[in-house]
Amino acid sequence: MRNIFLLFIIIFTTLSCSKHKTNDIAIIPEPQNLSIGRSTFTLDDDMTIFWDGNDLLKPQALYLSDLIDKSLDFEVKLADGDEKLTSRMIILQLNKIADARGDEGYTLDIGRKSVLITANTTKGIFYGIQTLYQMLISGTIVMENGRRFIILPIVSIEDMPRFKYRGMHLDVCRHMFPVEFIKKYIDLLAFYKFNTFHWHLTEDQGWRIEIKKYPKLNEIGSWRKETLVGHGGKTPFTYDGVPYGGYYTQNEVKEIVAYAQERMITVIPEIEMPGHSLAALASYPELGCTGGPYEVATKWGVFEDIYCTKEETFDFLENVLVEIIELFPSEYIHIGGDEAPKTRWIECVTCQNTINREGLKDEKELQSYFIQRMEKFLNKYDKNIIGWDEILEGGLAPNATVMSWRGTEGGIEAAKMNHDAVMTPGSHCYFDHYQANPKSEPLAIGGYTTLEKVYSYDPIPLDLSEIDSEHILGAQGNVWTEYMISPEHVEYMILPRMAALSEVVWTGNKDWIYFQKRITDHFKIYEILGYNYCNHPYDSIASDKNNNIE
Ligand code: ACM
Ligand code: ZN
Repeated sequence: MRNIFLLFIIIFTTLSCSKHKTNDIAIIPEPQNLSIGRSTFTLDDDMTIFWDGNDLLKPQALYLSDLIDKSLDFEVKLADGDEKLTSRMIILQLNKIADARGDEGYTLDIGRKSVLITANTTKGIFYGIQTLYQMLISGTIVMENGRRFIILPIVSIEDMPRFKYRGMHLDVCRHMFPVEFIKKYIDLLAFYKFNTFHWHLTEDQGWRIEIKKYPKLNEIGSWRKETLVGHGGKTPFTYDGVPYGGYYTQNEVKEIVAYAQERMITVIPEIEMPGHSLAALASYPELGCTGGPYEVATKWGVFEDIYCTKEETFDFLENVLVEIIELFPSEYIHIGGDEAPKTRWIECVTCQNTINREGLKDEKELQSYFIQRMEKFLNKYDKNIIGWDEILEGGLAPNATVMSWRGTEGGIEAAKMNHDAVMTPGSHCYFDHYQANPKSEPLAIGGYTTLEKVYSYDPIPLDLSEIDSEHILGAQGNVWTEYMISPEHVEYMILPRMAALSEVVWTGNKDWIYFQKRITDHFKIYEILGYNYCNHPYDSIASDKNNNIE
């Protein structure tokens, strides 16, 4: 064993440290350090994936062999530390002594005969596998005597992420997507080394997760009687007359959480409160200020009926959260907090009584009271809350993390108050915006967020001190689905923009010109893997004066 590793060291020290910007490699996100040798490595079906005998690595070896088998149609053999070695191997190895690359870093060394991935943890090994996979899938394929070979350049990569929170969100309420698609979405997150899937599960237009204690959430709240046709900003409204709905069973949720976990992805569930709660109110009207009746929303926007601050509401939400906590092992539970109009609270005797009883100044403080109660409850279960930046209004809950969406100010304010923040500003991170000229794009909510704009984003605000910047955990792409009816349309809106975002959150030194070259290679990968994408993501509007952006 030791001899083999010595051999590796010899091979790698003879690598030429050529300029890393090469025509042969298109890794996204770009690794922090990459050197390329002059020789090549050939993968054929006489290859063994070998792990160092540590059982933690067996699932990783299986995962890699499955990737190679499914996407390249190559069967590779598997062997662990006790089996006889051949020289043609992909070796996975955990460091005996942790190096500086942390939890998620790795090294990938491709020699002439073998490949070595090392890391401190299985997460790092997983990201090394993703890099190798990207190289394999875009490698040169050669046929000889009826056999296929994949040729890769020899490389030495040392890599680790810039940010620890690298997220993608998906709204499954405005439109819902099959479990198989959620898995395909998670695969894409893994491919681009995202580590967080923010799953937006409850809304005005539908409640999408099974809650056993409150069956009406699913019988009533998961269904709307019809859906708005066309853009929500254009009147008169017309509707399709077709009932729409569904929800994920708890078994399906467990399956998805496990699937994500195998791919080193944490699933953060979002249960919206106190606003965006019409589907819950339609199911249990006693939880609203007026008592209803309410209907699951059939159009988009912000609705005035929100949870009343009565005790029944807190009991209800706590019971819901107990089931959520059972399903999601993540540290965070997202409690929403955005876009909660105070109209009903101003008119509600119960809510006004809460304000008086608790000595609160106004309805903003009432919202803060609401969120802080939920935080206290969740903290007892060792969970932390994360919420949209409106949770700053009226006083931030003591342990809350802020998701800054109305620009970056919320994130800045949170960081200055010693709270963590995740940056998701609409200007750069909303993938429901148009990405090319709206005139020739499928209907979207509005905005104009090109690939280049996403790429240009830096999650660390310019005017934040170095110390405060440590509270910026990372960034996230948001995918609101009012206008995305099918999986193919979701794919179209996120690809290639999420590739750009992956580089924002992973890579230290970005290079837009070089990224454009690599993304063209990734278009080919999307075709191989069967993902839909926007193939014209460049600014096609700057010179068009008659554009029509909402
Ligand atoms: C949001 O976009 N309402 C967070
Ligand atoms: Zn009320």
